[in-house]
Amino acid sequence: RKKVTLNTLQSLHKAGDPIAMITAHDFPSAHVADAANMDIILVGDSLAMVALGMEDTSEVALEDMILHCRAVARATKAAFTIGDLPMGSYEVSPKQAITSAIRLVKEGRVQGVKLEGGQEMAPTIARITAAGIPVLGHVGLTPQRQNSLGGFRVQGKTAGSAFRVFEDALAVQEAGCFATVLEAVPAEIASVITKRLKIPTIGIGAGNGCSGQVLVQVDMTGNFPPGRFLPRFVKKYGDVWSESMRAIEKYREEVKSRAYPSPEHTYSIAKGELMEFES
Ligand code: KIV
Ligand code: NA
Repeated sequence: RKKVTLNTLQSLHKAGDPIAMITAHDFPSAHVADAANMDIILVGDSLAMVALGMEDTSEVALEDMILHCRAVARATKAAFTIGDLPMGSYEVSPKQAITSAIRLVKEGRVQGVKLEGGQEMAPTIARITAAGIPVLGHVGLTPQRQNSLGGFRVQGKTAGSAFRVFEDALAVQEAGCFATVLEAVPAEIASVITKRLKIPTIGIGAGNGCSGQVLVQVDMTGNFPPGRFLPRFVKKYGDVWSESMRAIEKYREEVKSRAYPSPEHTYSIAKGELMEFES
């Protein structure tokens, strides 16, 4: 497979072909996503929860993101790779944001960065793109701002708030983003925004009128225990948890009964050597 570049993504968008994006947080999750021909692999700060067991994304540090980006980059041969700028690494000033973005690219080995926010982040986005680093926008529901948004709520459910999401999307486009994530926005609004933008929109909880889709890998592969809350937009395409559980339980059983390891999983020594050893 040929390396996905910004040109590849532009061609897909021009042709009306949806862009397929998924998150990865380490070497194996990136390896499988790349082998499955994903166009974009995102090292999302959602790894705070799905890989590090944190309560939310506010706890994850730039150093954590760099470590995980580097692991993902090692496994990614073709997909375009993006790293999330975590909360606190880009809001203080454009200078801080460029410094963090450069670290994600140089040390994390990703090809572009994503940051949350609309109009207020436009000058920052412009500075990062001017430094030659592709920026993916993220508007609508911005999880890093969950406290000021009053939780994880659908954005743009009223005409006024829908217009603000549109203005944010337009602002990140004008600032130089090559595409933008649209999270938790009514499908009708996401469709209108997609039609009015020149850049592709990558939806998550934003209906099928977007230019592409993104999901968190552990959510869509079902790599979590039963009973966990899932947002409406998550479709569980697999049941990785059950398969791991089945395998590990079976292993335990066979260790306890000494069924494992059987001769086929065991090394042996020639009889003569063994007799000499024992004498
Ligand atoms: O952190 C993340 O995984 C994300 C995607 C869900 C867009 O930001
Ligand atoms: Na994120």
